[in-house]
Amino acid sequence: MGLSKLGQAFTAREIFKLVETDMRRVEEKMGLESISSVEAVTAINRHLQKSGGKRLRPTLVLLSCQLFGEVNEASIAMAAVVEMVHAATLVHDDVIDEAKSRRSHPSVNVLFGNQTSVLAGDWLYMQAFQIALRSRNFRVLDLLIGLTQLMVEGELLQLERLGRINISEADYMELIDRKTASLFNVCARLGAMAGAAGEADEAKLGEFAWNLGIAFQLVDDVLDFTSREKILGKPVGNDLKEGKVTLPLIYALEEATPAERLRVEMVLRERSYEHVPFAEILAMVAKYRGVQRAMERAAMFTERSRVLIHQFPDTAFQRALLSVTELVTNRDH
Ligand code: IPE
Ligand code: IPE
Ligand code: MG
Ligand code: MG
Repeated sequence: MGLSKLGQAFTAREIFKLVETDMRRVEEKMGLESISSVEAVTAINRHLQKSGGKRLRPTLVLLSCQLFGEVNEASIAMAAVVEMVHAATLVHDDVIDEAKSRRSHPSVNVLFGNQTSVLAGDWLYMQAFQIALRSRNFRVLDLLIGLTQLMVEGELLQLERLGRINISEADYMELIDRKTASLFNVCARLGAMAGAAGEADEAKLGEFAWNLGIAFQLVDDVLDFTSREKILGKPVGNDLKEGKVTLPLIYALEEATPAERLRVEMVLRERSYEHVPFAEILAMVAKYRGVQRAMERAAMFTERSRVLIHQFPDTAFQRALLSVTELVTNRDH
């Protein structure tokens, strides 16, 4: 990427181009590290790798590293580690949520069954830690283990709250901090560490990514109301059907009439839109500007992340990270 790019925002394609060669090395590493003597594990890993995904987390690692230094073996390895941890959480998440599709393909639990999926997810976690262990860096392990515990806590909290209508904004924020933002934070930190950044820079970049992660999950939860399955790669209207009350609905419920609340409660109880169509819920959320308000919240967090990334020197990689914040809020999948 030439210097002429400085001062301008990057498109998604340009960011992809910036990390393309390194991402190929990451994919190669994941492929090599996904082979088990048990065929089911290898088959699941192959399915996961080829069914796509945005590769946002390894991109964060690679860009973060290059804020401070050149891409090296450590950053390639860490990029593979975070994508494998992410994939493992998705496999487990789809078992827990009884999800039928992921990344526009049937989910692993549909193809291989719950038992096999849980074990394959465990294997993937351990393989990611195995790769991380080779760095012989206790801080890396400390970050990854703490992170995994946070993410599991997030899923547990979500499970406890399933089907409840009285979810506060604070409850919701606590959950998305654990289940999504913590991984974004660790991606940036691991990238910074691989680039030999100082501790203060690592913490600042971590905070940048944490804010980005919060915005990312807020938008994910908005897309569940506003997108189409064909674009999203997973069903829409799914969160409420799974018993999850997310921020657009939390905002709408703050102002809803008792009769409207009862309609939401019916979906939560039935776990289906048989008696209350999704269109009715959507209209109610629109009536109280739930989506709009949630997007405004997301914009607050991306703004915070922009302030933080602006504090780093103006390079192509800093620009790219800045542009990621725009892409996250403007994305359609
Ligand atoms: C899905 O993450 C899980 C959430 C945190 C919402 P992504 O939307 O990044 O999933 P892929 O990797 O692109 O499929
Ligand atoms: C995302 O949770 C999974 C993790 C971040 C662990 P969700 O259940 O909200 O995400 P989707 O909608 O299945 O991707
Ligand atoms: Mg899910
Ligand atoms: Mg979701």
